[in-house]
Amino acid sequence: MAPLIAGNWKMHGSLASAAALAGAVRAGWQARQGAAELLVCPAAIHLPAVAAVLAGSPIAWGGQDCHAAPQGAHTGDIAAPMLADCGARYVILGHSERRAEHGESDVAVRAKAMAAAAAGLRPILCVGENEAERNAGQAEARVGAQLRGGVPAGFAGDIAYEPVWAIGTGRTPTEAEVAAMHGFIRATLRDVLGAGGAAPRILYGGSVKPGNAAALLGLAEVGGALIGGASLKAEDFLAIAMAARG
Ligand code: 13P
Repeated sequence: MAPLIAGNWKMHGSLASAAALAGAVRAGWQARQGAAELLVCPAAIHLPAVAAVLAGSPIAWGGQDCHAAPQGAHTGDIAAPMLADCGARYVILGHSERRAEHGESDVAVRAKAMAAAAAGLRPILCVGENEAERNAGQAEARVGAQLRGGVPAGFAGDIAYEPVWAIGTGRTPTEAEVAAMHGFIRATLRDVLGAGGAAPRILYGGSVKPGNAAALLGLAEVGGALIGGASLKAEDFLAIAMAARG
């Protein structure tokens, strides 16, 4: 599969600015035609506006979360079939901000991944250790537990490794640390999904910028990037996408 370059727009923008950003990404990508697969994940309420701009382009759009139930009395939540109805092909699940701010457990993330798959969406399941865990030598233990608890049998999606301390901070792990963790995630996935299971792409996320993208994307088992801040600027997002080799 082509490397996936995904923009997580988080809780930013307006209808007008989201559509304008999508338009700039579409026009810029058409001019460049890189090897990566591109995805943008706006706030759910902006999805129809972004979908209208991206329809007919090679750029996919997706959600930032979904509920585990396909419908029901869940005030304020978004069901996976609703995202699919907006033309979404992907959904980010278990982002560290949702784990921290909404208390999402690995069990909840697993249920959401199954709901996403049932709706025809491809989940991007996020894992990552916090700074105290890394300093204590517990990074692999934390990520391993998130994978074993959160990845359902038959998982056909992608994984995003996002060290919590690297998100929005301008700090990243060393290249050796990223390569080691991605190798560990690959080995754990083989164990969890079995030899016959699908091979998810393993994206890196956390302060990916145009200046560090080529080095990060060139590492073994780095199958793409999940980008926050830099995805809000079309030129930066596209520069990162162009650093990905097919
Ligand atoms: P930044 O790229 O802003 O560090 O955010 C990463 C992230 O959380 C993407 O999901």
